[in-house]
Amino acid sequence: MNTRGFRSLLASAGIGATLAATGLIAPYAAAQEDPAAMIAYRQSTMKAIGGHMGAIAMAAKGDVTFTDEVAGHARAINQLSQNLTRYFPAGSGKEAGETAALPVIWEKWTEFEVAIKTLGTESAKLAEVAEGGDRTAIAVQTGELGNKGCGGCHKTFREKKN
Ligand code: HEC
Repeated sequence: MNTRGFRSLLASAGIGATLAATGLIAPYAAAQEDPAAMIAYRQSTMKAIGGHMGAIAMAAKGDVTFTDEVAGHARAINQLSQNLTRYFPAGSGKEAGETAALPVIWEKWTEFEVAIKTLGTESAKLAEVAEGGDRTAIAVQTGELGNKGCGGCHKTFREKKN
């Protein structure tokens, strides 16, 4: 078991504070995510979101006939959007490793949160539209999700790739 798992086990057993007081484990304030792991984790999550989006786009374009799967992919994106804020703790920018997350994220945190909320709203809308099964409507809302949801954030907060 890793340290974190061990700590949460201790916490659930209600003995963490006692051990912390004796100096056997660090106080909880110090139990933060490792910044390099944080970067790798959020990049994996973004890749997962990108995977869902790729599948949605193919169905929306009619490359495959699986329009009945769009709602599931959209809900998955929506689900993943719920925790995005916590993948960007202060100190997990370029000072912590190779990342395309720009410093402006932490300078304009409120705007960044709005961008995350927009991803939630647009993916929820797509899930709803997709339940209707109309491919044209799905394609339109997929465009909205891509432009407002993904693009709306990447344009300002992610380093451009050449
Ligand atoms: C609130 C901001 C935000 C939203 C919304 C957002 N992204 Fe991202 N995305 C980022 C940031 C910041 C990075 C760079 C992460 C890093 O390198 O640490 C990123 C990285 C990525 C990557 C590259 C991951 C890698 O390192 O290989 C992909 C793919 C991606 N996003 C897809 C999407 C798609 C698709 C959507 C919409 C469905 C989306 N993102 C919505 C902020 C966002």
